[in-house]
Amino acid sequence: METDGEPLAAGLSARGLRLARGAREVLRDVSFDAPKGQVTVVVAPSGAGKSTLLRCCNGLLALDAGVLLLDGGDVAASDACALRRRVGLVGQLPVMLPGTVRDNLAYALAADDPRAAEPALLRALDAAGLDGTFLARPAGELSGGERARVALARALTRGPELLLLDEPTAALDAAAAAHVGETLTRLAHDGLGVVVATHDLVLAARIADRAVALRDGRAVEGAPAEILAAAGAGATGATAGAAAAAGAAGDAGEAGAAGATGPAAEAAP
Ligand SMILES: Nc1ncnc2c1ncn2[C@@H]1O[C@H](COP(=O)(O)OP(=O)(O)OP(=O)(O)O)[C@@H](O)[C@H]1O
Ligand SMILES: [Mg+2]
Repeated sequence: METDGEPLAAGLSARGLRLARGAREVLRDVSFDAPKGQVTVVVAPSGAGKSTLLRCCNGLLALDAGVLLLDGGDVAASDACALRRRVGLVGQLPVMLPGTVRDNLAYALAADDPRAAEPALLRALDAAGLDGTFLARPAGELSGGERARVALARALTRGPELLLLDEPTAALDAAAAAHVGETLTRLAHDGLGVVVATHDLVLAARIADRAVALRDGRAVEGAPAEILAAAGAGATGATAGAAAAAGAAGDAGEAGAAGATGPAAEAAP
């Protein structure tokens, strides 16, 4: 199934995306919808183009062809700063700025910006599963999993309309990954558009309202259980089995209703 209908009035619509990296056409003809209010997961083998796709979606990479529409407006025509204010990207290898976690969260926000005030920073940290003691911690001494959560909090302080996450749970243990999954579900159900590229089929099955697989540079959309089962067929038996079990639980109602990247690009103010 491939999306070719009217672009969404509220959310991201990709139509016919094409992009070559080096000699290889990584994205050949990618079309999908990611509505606001839902979690859309993107699954594909390593090297298939997930990070490339997310970086196109917030304007970090320019397309060779095709169009990306946010709420029906052409992303390519948007001012880069304005676009990154609306579309937050939490990168696969989050970059921490020098200074404290507070400095990272308030990065490039004016001192009198309410988004830089303590209550807003604490809310963002809490949503990402970190307590307030982290505000004063030097970012450089955080573990990989803590950095991943600070990067999520940093994106949230910007109040994006659409949040793109590249392997958000790769550095997390199962409990922390589950917390991030619950956070993403809640954020989506509060109206945010959430797009998650992940290898974590258990997480994907738990949070996906919609699923997109990348195959040979094309997007295949479908029911999450089907898309994830097909993705799991290429994974280990244990992972595929767990994903299938989580997917079955999701069908029963647990699921929701519905690169060299600097922090400025990941989460612009
Ligand atoms: N700057 C670049 N120059 C040339 N090729 C690139 C560049 N960046 C990415 N690629 C290639 O594009 C392809 C897609 O890369 P991408 O990082 O999007 O994959 P991915 O699906 O995110 O993989 P992973 O699951 O390992 O993170 C890969 O073959 C990669 O080697
Ligand atoms: Mg990647």
